[in-house]
Amino acid sequence: MAIGIGLLGLGTVGTGTAEILLTPHGRHPLLGEVVLKKAGVRSLDKPRSVGLPQDCLTTDLNEIVNDPDVQIVVELLGGLEPARTLILEAIANGKHIVTANKAVIAKFGEEIYTAANKAGVYVLLEAAVGGGIPVIKPLKQSLSVNRITRVIGIINGTTNYILTQMTQNNADFDTVLKDAQGLGYAEADPTADVDGGDAADKIAILASLAFGGRINRDDVYCEGIRDVSAADISFATKLGFVIKLLAIAERPDFEADALQLRVHPTLVPTSHPLATVNGVFNAILVEGEPLGQVMLSGPGAGAGATASAVVSDIVHVVGVLHSDHTLQDQTGKSLNPLLGCSHEHYSTTLPIDTLKTRFYARFLSQDLPGVIGDLGTCFGQHQVSLESVVQIGLKDDCAEIVVVTHDVYEANFREALAEIQGLEAIKDVPSILRVL
Ligand code: HSE
Repeated sequence: MAIGIGLLGLGTVGTGTAEILLTPHGRHPLLGEVVLKKAGVRSLDKPRSVGLPQDCLTTDLNEIVNDPDVQIVVELLGGLEPARTLILEAIANGKHIVTANKAVIAKFGEEIYTAANKAGVYVLLEAAVGGGIPVIKPLKQSLSVNRITRVIGIINGTTNYILTQMTQNNADFDTVLKDAQGLGYAEADPTADVDGGDAADKIAILASLAFGGRINRDDVYCEGIRDVSAADISFATKLGFVIKLLAIAERPDFEADALQLRVHPTLVPTSHPLATVNGVFNAILVEGEPLGQVMLSGPGAGAGATASAVVSDIVHVVGVLHSDHTLQDQTGKSLNPLLGCSHEHYSTTLPIDTLKTRFYARFLSQDLPGVIGDLGTCFGQHQVSLESVVQIGLKDDCAEIVVVTHDVYEANFREALAEIQGLEAIKDVPSILRVL
């Protein structure tokens, strides 16, 4: 029985997906049962690197989600609309969904999965997080008997590329961003990447799988990398750290069952496995009991890598269709629990104030006796214990002082900081970063 595929979008990932589907030899044998029926494009006239018959192409995306010969709709449009509407329409028509769209799942996951469960169809999204890195299926299946305590990801290639370039070339954010845009590594509008939104969408998805509940996307605390300066990267290097945009989901207290979800630039010790993940590469570190730590790393974007994840989901659905004919009758209740989504509640999330972490802070102050003492006193009065205090040199006639704390509550740190900012000798606090 041939399974018909409809591609919504034939851009970079769509083309990579079509290339795999059209060259099944030497790949999984189930690909032999898959037929690419339709691909939705913006223009029929655009020259294409992949050899698809002209009658396969259409500019009418509705045609694809309503086509009775299409059993799996592969959504590669990105963004919220029309992706959401087309996915829901395809589901209502009994079609399985494979998507690379983290934004639509992070925002409308409840609506989409509720509809899918009702219709008895799968929505698979291996390509939505980490590009070609298998992380969704491992979290759903191979790692799922562990009590997951923490997931830490470098899950945005654009920002990892920018931070790596800033570190290696001692360059400023703006300069590197411009170069990255010129080379096609960063979008013309880089907002979703550099302000952390893309990583926040992805960690919301990973947290939902790791901790078994829906996530309200707005609960993910999010800071991007625009304010990371060459000066901080250089101080971080001297102190034995690299700066990475980390997306972190953790359950600090297993009994309390509440999650801390955050995306922010972070000082990572150079000895940590995530410190060596450079350029556009992604990595996801999963910590659980009894397993310990597992790190998955690889290409987080790109045509071939992302298409590999897309097609693995297609093969998964085909395999299940093979073994379970009841699915094709849309019986609703027969979804394989290892592939479907069974979340019924939203997870509780903790405010950033309750986070316990180390901080790095850089101060510019008048070079006067007692300033470091005053800093220490303010921190001490708010239960903020210091790991190191270094006066590195002079900048614009001000002493540049860098402080690294022990693990402290964010709320205490912020209170101390507010008091320090009121000290006469303190002229500026150019940067506050968290430390892993
Ligand atoms: N914009 C993403 C990144 C790639 O830079 O990692 C797609 O998820």
